[in-house]
Amino acid sequence: METTIRRATAADLEGLVELAAATFPLACPEGTAPEAITAHVAAHLGPESFARWTASADHVLLVAEDADVPGRLAGYALLACYRTTDPGMVRLVGEGPAVELSKIYVRADAHGSGVATALLAAGLDLVSTTWPDAPVWLGTHSTNLRAQRFYRKHDFELAGTRTFFVGDEAQDDVVMLRRVPTV
Ligand SMILES: CC(C)(COP(=O)(O)OP(=O)(O)OC[C@H]1O[C@@H](n2cnc3c(N)ncnc32)[C@H](O)[C@@H]1OP(=O)(O)O)[C@@H](O)C(=O)NCCC(=O)NCCS
Repeated sequence: METTIRRATAADLEGLVELAAATFPLACPEGTAPEAITAHVAAHLGPESFARWTASADHVLLVAEDADVPGRLAGYALLACYRTTDPGMVRLVGEGPAVELSKIYVRADAHGSGVATALLAAGLDLVSTTWPDAPVWLGTHSTNLRAQRFYRKHDFELAGTRTFFVGDEAQDDVVMLRRVPTV
């Protein structure tokens, strides 16, 4: 699938909200309560959140345009640069600014198409110029083997674990850290 990757703008908010609601359940482990998913989407993936990330200097929000359906988004990625204060995370990524690949979500019909790879490559490219010294990390559910395989293909390695809340449900995440290429 041919795709165009670009930074999100205010004009994408409606499309992003629809895309986020359609794709967030794909990352949840089997058995996650639908109410917990609905609560998480409502609380964290609404237009206010996307508007904030679009306008923030500490975030990179990228969208992939759907080549087959004009006007529709096929995927999005959010990277956030910040200092973590969680002692467990400090041990894994350090005290300085670190970049979290906070979200990468692609519609199910575009999995395996290269859209996710294009989103990640564009995101890492921007990170390397915007925050060149920051380590890059992510958390994903321990049973999300497809995502973990995708990240390993792109130089992320298992670094530890964390707890992530979807609604009131505590979930076990793995934390992966991007290997810094050696010269
Ligand atoms: C995670 C995501 C962005 C990856 O994009 P993708 O297009 O599916 O990734 P790719 O197809 O390039 O890579 C996935 C790899 O996992 C493999 N895979 C698929 N199902 C698998 C499984 N159940 N167990 C292990 N590996 C699996 C694929 O074969 C592929 O590996 P290969 O290229 O060596 O054959 C996409 O799957 C997605 O949006 N998933 C739903 C949302 C999500 O989970 N986001 C991450 C939240 S942290």
